[in-house]
Amino acid sequence: QNYWKIQRTKPDTDMNSQQAGVENATPIFKSGSTPKRYTVTSALPYANGPVHIGHLAGVYVPADIYVRYLRSRGRDVIFIGGSDEHGVPITIKALKQNTTPQAIVDHYHTLIKDSFEKFGISFDIYSRTSSKMHEATASAFFKELYDKGCFIEKTSMQYYDTEQHQFLADRYITGTCPHCHSEGAYGDQCEKCGSALSPDELIDPKSTISGSTPVKKETKHWYLPLDRYEDFLKKWILEGHRDDWRPNVYGQCKSWIDLGLQPRAVTRDLDWGVPLPLPDTKGKVLYVWFDAPIGYISATKELLPEDWEKYWKDDQTKLVHFIGKDNIVFHCIIFPCMLKAEGSYLVPDNVPANEFLNLEGDKISTSRNWAIWLHEYLEDFPGKQDVLRYVLTANAPETKDNDFTWRDFQARNNNELLAIFGNFVNRTVVLTHKYFEGKVPSVSETAYTEADKECLREMCAYPARIADSLEHYRFREGLNELMNLARLGNKYLTDNEPWKVFKTDPERVKVVLNISLQIAAHLAVLCEPFLPFTAEKLCRILNMEKSGWDAAEKEELLQGGHLLNPAEFLFEKIEDEVIQKQLDKLAAIKEANKKNAKPNYEPQKEAVSFEDFGKMDLRVAEITAAEKVAKTKKLLKLTLNTGLDTRTVVSGIAEYYKPEEIVGRKVCLLANLAPRDFKGIESHGMILMSENPDGTLCFVEPAKDAVVGMQIR
Ligand code: 2FM
Ligand code: ZN
Repeated sequence: QNYWKIQRTKPDTDMNSQQAGVENATPIFKSGSTPKRYTVTSALPYANGPVHIGHLAGVYVPADIYVRYLRSRGRDVIFIGGSDEHGVPITIKALKQNTTPQAIVDHYHTLIKDSFEKFGISFDIYSRTSSKMHEATASAFFKELYDKGCFIEKTSMQYYDTEQHQFLADRYITGTCPHCHSEGAYGDQCEKCGSALSPDELIDPKSTISGSTPVKKETKHWYLPLDRYEDFLKKWILEGHRDDWRPNVYGQCKSWIDLGLQPRAVTRDLDWGVPLPLPDTKGKVLYVWFDAPIGYISATKELLPEDWEKYWKDDQTKLVHFIGKDNIVFHCIIFPCMLKAEGSYLVPDNVPANEFLNLEGDKISTSRNWAIWLHEYLEDFPGKQDVLRYVLTANAPETKDNDFTWRDFQARNNNELLAIFGNFVNRTVVLTHKYFEGKVPSVSETAYTEADKECLREMCAYPARIADSLEHYRFREGLNELMNLARLGNKYLTDNEPWKVFKTDPERVKVVLNISLQIAAHLAVLCEPFLPFTAEKLCRILNMEKSGWDAAEKEELLQGGHLLNPAEFLFEKIEDEVIQKQLDKLAAIKEANKKNAKPNYEPQKEAVSFEDFGKMDLRVAEITAAEKVAKTKKLLKLTLNTGLDTRTVVSGIAEYYKPEEIVGRKVCLLANLAPRDFKGIESHGMILMSENPDGTLCFVEPAKDAVVGMQIR
């Protein structure tokens, strides 16, 4: 018998354990029992481009961690993924590339599926919505709702392209956004300000296909009257999930419901999509957001033709949708209303939507190529999938938008994965080979000191602690706990210095290495959801079978006398040159975007009087000193000669100008702006800058012969 089998007094933490002693007991599922099974879905990415780190961080890595964890506990879980192959973005891409939508989705479906596989995203099925099974399922779903009288039929006037003989839905029409006045807003959304739009709201609408000005033409569509489901939504979400859904998800749902829901069209006049299963409706298809979520159901049918229903209809099943924040309304309001209307389906138990990940301070954007594409990462960093999984989880945008930077990536690899996790495992395994021919030393419990016992007690608490984080969708917290276990191991080794003690007390070293090896084995089990490739390598080094979470809670994982395999490095240092190459690549993209960026002319502001203008004291000044403001990315502290005085001005230009480059430059200064405090520095005035189409700033420079201190008017 071993120490922790006897000493362990805490009950097992599974979903049932509400007993005292379990820190932060997990919530009771439905009537208080563990769900019998889990259906976990992850948003179906559009097959019109490759996937990038934003997709991975927002949806697929957290979903995969959750699913791997559940499997490790022996739970019955299916993990559903696939490509979203309908919708206007795909037909537009086909048009631009002079090919067919099918050719586009075939290409990207394969590329996306391959990227996910290589990152270890462990779908039970990765399907696609252009499949026959999906067409049949989505079509039958619509027909069922139609037969039950769940839709409203409405004839209305919609934009039509007379050159292309086509109605213009969603992205087939662009114009000026009525809210932020930027050009190029789509018929369904303005990407600049994020507002949801309908084609009728666009100012100066144009057809995306021909560029012509569309006319209005009559057409008939089917609408899902969301307003009929308000009571259901209020009870289910506002009352039922106030405490267990993330605040961002709950908040978005609440504001949609509070604003009052409207009927939403679920059909379109297009020739790409699931055809309407009704007579005389040629040229009409289901709206992509109607058919796409049904894709989760079609994929389940494909995976389990006999057994699929219990994963969608049995109330002992827990349904969880992993998505990004732009998909909240579809998964929390519209799809649940569809499921409710049908009547026999479950609604999700949780929808842990993430916020967005930015890249080096800028919004990730496919059209501006501002992204780290997964297929390119795999080429540039072969074998380092876990490093990216780690960084994206450690920095996951769970509660707010977050930033990915290459420097942070490097630091987390070198200072965390390598210096803490890798170093601990390596020292432990190398010393075991050196002193005990690679065999786990056998020790008697009487040899444990109080500190040894404390270390073991701490180790035994981690499975429950990490489980608690993961059951509550707190993946960064779970990963941090995992690293704390590695820190525990590192500290234990450093405190006990087996390399020094061996000469005088080899028996003591047996205890120290046995305990260190148990910690390493626990790491192998507990890191698997986060770092599956590392887990596999570590199991190989420790020569251990992949064991489950419950074993790590209860058992000694490595027995005395067990023979290890030779040591291998789990992680490698990432050098500055490698990171610089990535930064250069991004800088080149930024440069190209700058050249290509189209100006977005803001409308002229309201008229002001000459007196109003005259209130501003504008003058020529000279920068005499400049330095970065500590702990900020954007701010420079400037010293200016204004002719009148020497003063400090804080300016948000650090991303565009280096301090040493700008000393001696003449600038335009708004001298009488009321003083303002930035990070404890009082700023006396503001330097005038102009903003470029790509958002970068540049000086408004006085001519060479302008004299410092003179007024600008
Ligand atoms: O936002 C998107 O990329 C959509 N293709 C997600 C669809 S999720 C589900 F409903 F299919
Ligand atoms: Zn807008």
